[in-house]
Amino acid sequence: METRILQPNPENIRLCAQRIKSGGVVAFPTETVYGLGASAFEPRAVREIFRIKGRPNDNPLIVHVSSLEQIREVADLVSPLALKLISAFMPGALTLVMKRKSCVPDCVTAGLDTVGVRMPSNEACRKFLAECGVPVAAPSANTSTRPSPTCAEHVYDDLRGKIPYVLDGGECEIGLESTILDVSGVAPKLLRAGGISIEELERVCGLKIQTASSTGKALCPGMKYKHYSPKAEVYFSAYYGNMFGGINAHYDLLVSSGKNPVILCLDKNASLYGARKVYRMGADYGDYARMLFASLRRADSQNYDSVIAEGVPSEGIGAAIINRLVKSSGGKII
Ligand code: TXA
Ligand code: MG
Repeated sequence: METRILQPNPENIRLCAQRIKSGGVVAFPTETVYGLGASAFEPRAVREIFRIKGRPNDNPLIVHVSSLEQIREVADLVSPLALKLISAFMPGALTLVMKRKSCVPDCVTAGLDTVGVRMPSNEACRKFLAECGVPVAAPSANTSTRPSPTCAEHVYDDLRGKIPYVLDGGECEIGLESTILDVSGVAPKLLRAGGISIEELERVCGLKIQTASSTGKALCPGMKYKHYSPKAEVYFSAYYGNMFGGINAHYDLLVSSGKNPVILCLDKNASLYGARKVYRMGADYGDYARMLFASLRRADSQNYDSVIAEGVPSEGIGAAIINRLVKSSGGKII
């Protein structure tokens, strides 16, 4: 199959939506990462997503919607707390896990009695979802275990020949996936850190949100799998006063054992690494998040075999950055 990258003009948006409505699979942009979508009500198309990605089928998909009415189509109980969160953060980078309606096929939810629902804010995505007219089940549009795609070319690199269209919305504004909050139980639980910070959620909910570290419990089903991995070995630094010294020492050790490493650092820190190879990750942690997955892919394409990521503080978007770095490094903290 030929894979075409399409600009998001009205004609192409219609073409992609038509494909979804007739039971096909299409990649589309969101403000977080690109998604690989199919109609949530077409089990055959949904199963095709799992096949194309090589995704384990016990890992449920998020359902993408364009309106509150569509949320009510798939979620059984939209609680007052859920409504509060919807009005504060949707459209945006929040996924809410709620009790599902029986019309949602088992292959979407991996047999769970809940469904994850998200309403993206990206302009092209909103037009595309509105044109689809059905909720769209979609995981990130990467091959399983690879870093999530933050531009159309990443999707093309992973899925060329396997899907007909990639709707090109340019570079994703956030660059890390949505925050996943389970509101199906008595107390809201954070299942995955992401584009909306836990501090913002707590401000709106008016209460402390349980996290995996506070409950010691497993996160969402997908988080147990190997994730976000480039070919290069990833290491990341804890965040502390003189992490630069530690990073330099680790870099030099890798070089002396014949490796070819690159350091991911904020622009303002680049000079602290002397002549060592660095990728500048922008002015702040929002930039760092936006460029993270792209930098992991870039390291592979430029034949670096090791990546050392600077540590970040755990507040705000930092929590999501740390989560993705723990995953992609397999926990190799220096
Ligand atoms: O930003 C995002 O969320 C992106 C864009 C495309 O929307 N999507 C995304 O999908 O990251 P994916 O499939 O790569 O990650 C979805 C995560 C998985 O870890 C899955 O286990 C979890 O969401 N999930 C989905 N439905 C769930 C449910 N009902 N209960 C608990 N976890 C759920
Ligand atoms: Mg994913």
